Amino acid sequence: MSLQFKLQPAGKISGEIRVPGDKSVSHRSIMFGSLAEGITHVSGFLEGEDSLNTLRAFQAMGVEIEGPVDGKVCIHGVGMNGLKPPAKPLDMGNSGTSMRLLSGLLSGQSFDLELIGDRSLTKRPMKRVTDPLALMGARVDTAEGGRPPLKIHGGSQMKGIHYDMPMASAQVKSCLLLAGMYADGETSVTEPAPTRDHTERMLAAFGYPVKTQANKISLQGGGKLTACDIDVPSDISSAAFFMVMAAIAKEADILIKHVGINPTRTGVIDILKLMGADITLQNHQQVGGEPVADVHVRNSQLKGIHVPEALVPLAIDEFPVLFVAAACAQGQTVVSGAHELRVKECDRIQVMADGLVALGVDATATDDGMIINGGAIKSGTVNSHDDHRIAMAFSVASLAAEGEIVIDDCDNVNTSFPTFVELANQVGLQLTTTQTTNSL
Ligand code: S3P
Repeated sequence: MSLQFKLQPAGKISGEIRVPGDKSVSHRSIMFGSLAEGITHVSGFLEGEDSLNTLRAFQAMGVEIEGPVDGKVCIHGVGMNGLKPPAKPLDMGNSGTSMRLLSGLLSGQSFDLELIGDRSLTKRPMKRVTDPLALMGARVDTAEGGRPPLKIHGGSQMKGIHYDMPMASAQVKSCLLLAGMYADGETSVTEPAPTRDHTERMLAAFGYPVKTQANKISLQGGGKLTACDIDVPSDISSAAFFMVMAAIAKEADILIKHVGINPTRTGVIDILKLMGADITLQNHQQVGGEPVADVHVRNSQLKGIHVPEALVPLAIDEFPVLFVAAACAQGQTVVSGAHELRVKECDRIQVMADGLVALGVDATATDDGMIINGGAIKSGTVNSHDDHRIAMAFSVASLAAEGEIVIDDCDNVNTSFPTFVELANQVGLQLTTTQTTNSL
């Protein structure tokens, strides 16, 4: 059985909402809270399958974690060397972030373990972390082609390295910094373009010194983490669906509260503004080292643009819904320099291009992006290919569609946004769900 979304066209979007907690920050709060000395209280934790898989992994390694209850989690830290061998393989489900960050963090432990994942995660490339980890002295076996499962051999004597990252990836950067905490000497990485810096900010919040000089980030091994309280901002990647809804609906006025606006994540706002969206930020605050604001969006006519490549890593998870915005814009939108989209939860370039074409949109996939000529969106059926953000992006498209849109395989919306259906209907989408036997 699999979850199917059915959406009727709707024209009006309005309301004041708060979307769930940031996925990246939620993962890291569990990892650092578990390794810290003392008790960490987390609020606003994302109760989605991805971050819950991280939480369950640390429970399986002997960490006492209470919750989540209404986004509140209490973690009884065991210290840097307090983890215990898990009784069975740790299941990361759909979560690339869990697998890549844990591969680094767990390479420095004294015990062996295995990381496994679901159908989508098992197809994703892991050599981007296992190659540099091997240079640090880690012993991690992959399945054929550098794919999961990962078998990590404990007891390695890790040494610090300098690594020039070949791709802009916060997961690779974070993996190496986490491994570096267990390595002798300094570990440093340089990134080809800025990527989300939640690891650096949260390490600092837990009292672990991290140095950022231009595009080089470094830390010394052998330090410790001290428990602290973490208030997780709402996830800008989830808010993005509502931003685009309000930008493309005929009548729209929406306020999305307490959204994380870390400058390494706000590419979606910059891109939508370049396309002519009416977005304003208000009520700026700082929570636990992360900036937040309320995001106010009103409808406006979008226009096609060539998305500046420098903004791509800062909006990397938002392209599925940005492609929908481009389909609703006047003129041509060109996205380039986004090859990384091909190795996300699915090949997001191909799957989005196929889905848009199925809905009558003039969209052409390129090696590293897409060319979209804005125009009418027709009715039709698309498949999300096990990818939460594809399912939610095509739900947004219903606001501009001429007829019904049916989306197959939507169970994975639960990985990052368990309350999506409820909130989407609350602001005006016409979304119903059914269990079907249609799936890939
Ligand atoms: C993430 C980094 C990004 C992003 C993912 C979460 C993180 O991946 O796509 O959803 O929390 O570090 P890459 O760093 O591989 O681009």
